[in-house]
Amino acid sequence: MDRIGQMERTVERLTSPGRGILAADESYPTITKRLSDHGIESTEENRRFYRSLLATTPGIGEYVGGIIFFEETLGQKTDDGELIPAACEKQDIVPGIKVDKGLTELPGSGGEKVTQGLDNLGDRLDGYLEQGALFTKWRNVYEISANTPGRQAIEANAEVLARYAAIAQSRGMVPIVEPEVLMDGDHDIERCAEVTEAAQTAVFAALRRHNVILECIILKPNMVLPGKSQKPRPAPEVCAEATLRVLRRTVPAAVPTINFLSGGQTAEEATAHLNAMNQSDKANPWVLSFSYSRALQNPVQEAWKGESGNKEAAQKAFLKRARLNSLARDGRYDPSMENDPA
Ligand code: 13P
Repeated sequence: MDRIGQMERTVERLTSPGRGILAADESYPTITKRLSDHGIESTEENRRFYRSLLATTPGIGEYVGGIIFFEETLGQKTDDGELIPAACEKQDIVPGIKVDKGLTELPGSGGEKVTQGLDNLGDRLDGYLEQGALFTKWRNVYEISANTPGRQAIEANAEVLARYAAIAQSRGMVPIVEPEVLMDGDHDIERCAEVTEAAQTAVFAALRRHNVILECIILKPNMVLPGKSQKPRPAPEVCAEATLRVLRRTVPAAVPTINFLSGGQTAEEATAHLNAMNQSDKANPWVLSFSYSRALQNPVQEAWKGESGNKEAAQKAFLKRARLNSLARDGRYDPSMENDPA
């Protein structure tokens, strides 16, 4: 299959009915924090056991079409001795890989950040392809304050994100393009909308500049929400309408799918917000689905607690959360379903 045919096939698998993406690509510091929140130590064996537990959950392929991994996981094996990417394929789940190298200071910006990782990216991708990864992820971060993000940070981040996407597509790998406006702060929902619109406008201009094939990307944006410390929280419909308004203004209809990050929302909030977007009466040109990390994994880590005897309970918690988000992807979720047995 040629490069474009391979990407089209990957997009088709990732957008197949009822499915979304699991982000299980936490870097060493992030996974250490997530696991320690549940009293679990981040050893290599615990990380292997845990990510293998996720990938081998019986029936999960019905709700999850792709899993984004961290590079360590691509070489690890399941409890049955099978490489984790191969175990994913058995359930028709496409293995993906996070390829950015995190944030670094953007000199001249007064302390804002830019994502790094372009050096030797093509060579690294060739290795990940050999290990079975067919799609990639790169995350930009935008912090809201009275005077950030500034124009310099918005443009510099858009440029590296587009260069990454062009390199991924040169290898026939589908890039997840993730411009994340953080939820931290006390800003209102309008300010989040304004920043999200500015960030995405710059990203799509840069994608065009670098001749990225829009039909072969996945957009992974934040939802439009007030800052975390704002209480009470708005109704799901308010978030849904604010988010859709920004997306309609900025995202071309050529983009096949928008898979949201959860960004610190609770599991229930992230599901309810996705559901409300899919219940909106205006037609949207894209699939609206999920690519959650915390909102899918929190309940799993809670059930697992780092003990192998809890594996089945943890897999049941994962299956339930994934099923509810699959329903939300079609606007068929109801909060009363939270009471269903795992
Ligand atoms: P959250 O859903 O926890 O925001 O993580 C998604 C992700 O992949 C961040 O890069």
